[in-house]
Amino acid sequence: MTERSAWVRMTEQDPGHSTAYVERFRRLAAEGFDLGGEARLVDALLPRGARVLDAGCGPGRVGAVLHAAGHRVVGVDVDPVLVAAAEADHPGPRWLVGDLAELDLGESFDAIVCAGNVMTFLAASTRGTVLARLRAHVADGGRAAIGFGAGRGYPFDEFLDDARAVGWAPDLLLSTWDLRPFTDRSDFLVALLRPA
Ligand SMILES: C[S@@+](CC[C@H](N)C(=O)[O-])C[C@H]1O[C@@H](n2cnc3c(N)ncnc32)[C@H](O)[C@@H]1O
Repeated sequence: MTERSAWVRMTEQDPGHSTAYVERFRRLAAEGFDLGGEARLVDALLPRGARVLDAGCGPGRVGAVLHAAGHRVVGVDVDPVLVAAAEADHPGPRWLVGDLAELDLGESFDAIVCAGNVMTFLAASTRGTVLARLRAHVADGGRAAIGFGAGRGYPFDEFLDDARAVGWAPDLLLSTWDLRPFTDRSDFLVALLRPA
């Protein structure tokens, strides 16, 4: 059986957590904060009208920008409150509730984006499985963009080893979504992965 993600365990302990998260991002959007940085990087990887999977989409801020750019977006998230917010706030993409460890959409994607520390909210026992499920959903020539911070229990080296073990090869390692290079001192990783 799939171990419940750390995010789900957190929401069980704090039932208001998901709603507060949705409201925080609605407020930031209303205040004009730039919430589209991750999507802009992913858009640059793609031809027009591409297929994009927003893995761990939350309330949909990344997939929404990619949809507006003309891509066909599917977003998947384990938290039904966040998916409901994505449906309400960002009609257009296909927003689905599901655990990435059990992802089986029967289609493949030109890009998979996994932004906002999703990797660090998975149950640790499912990390390899999730990376394998993402690998199973990438089209030939496609790529994944996965970003998360240091000090959140998933060392970058371990993540890269796990990714290689299931058929991903690192294409480019960055330390920010606006393309700053990754170094030994970086406290954030944006890994662009391609099928090995
Ligand atoms: C900090 S939020 C980021 C949401 C979104 N990617 C963004 O950047 O706005 C982390 C997300 O990971 C999702 N998540 C955690 N474990 C998951 C899993 N096993 N399957 C699907 N989604 C998961 C949570 O539900 C939550 O929406």
